[in-house]
Amino acid sequence: MSIAVFASGNGSNFEALVERSKRQGWPEMITLLVCDRPGAGVLDRAKRLEIPSAVFQPADYASKAEYEKEVLALLRERGIRWILLAGYMRMVGSVLLEACRWRILNIHPSLLPAFQGKNAIQQALDYGVRWTGVTVHWVDEGIDTGPIIDQKPVLVEPDDNVESLQKKIQFVEHNLYPAVVRKLLTGQVSPPEGDGGGKGEQD
Ligand code: GRF
Repeated sequence: MSIAVFASGNGSNFEALVERSKRQGWPEMITLLVCDRPGAGVLDRAKRLEIPSAVFQPADYASKAEYEKEVLALLRERGIRWILLAGYMRMVGSVLLEACRWRILNIHPSLLPAFQGKNAIQQALDYGVRWTGVTVHWVDEGIDTGPIIDQKPVLVEPDDNVESLQKKIQFVEHNLYPAVVRKLLTGQVSPPEGDGGGKGEQD
């Protein structure tokens, strides 16, 4: 069994995960990138890192369920157990959630439950918090609402703007996400209801 990363954009977290997994020789490796945006920067990274990628265009499907059924078929074909969302700009729907319950993780650029959804870094600046950070959590039906696995704080300096704060947050993300995944693969992190790891697909 192995790991798929789902991403829509730049892919710096994807690259950090792949590099760490190779360096540390994880018990399950990243063998697939699923991308929902043709032309996304993450696809170039996958090519360079020699990770197979699959591009799906949700607009080509009659519904979200049809799109996800196709993605799920590929995941099954490739023996994927874990799904890591890394800048995947789409809510996971019921088809994937039900088939992959507690096998989907996400990384979010805030200390959840603060600043859920899009533009979390801008939201933190607008609110004027002194501390924000990074959260890795399980994915459920809500937007950034699933059970929290780990968090790391990031200090907001008075002269920070979105770019400078994003840089600090991404530095933390690139360490925290691989560390959490490694713990998951080595049994130091368990799915919330204990039914995600070890069993493979649940139909
Ligand atoms: C990250 O900040 C992540 O927290 C959020 O989307 C961003 C993706 O960045 N979910 P990248 O594409 O991995 O560089």
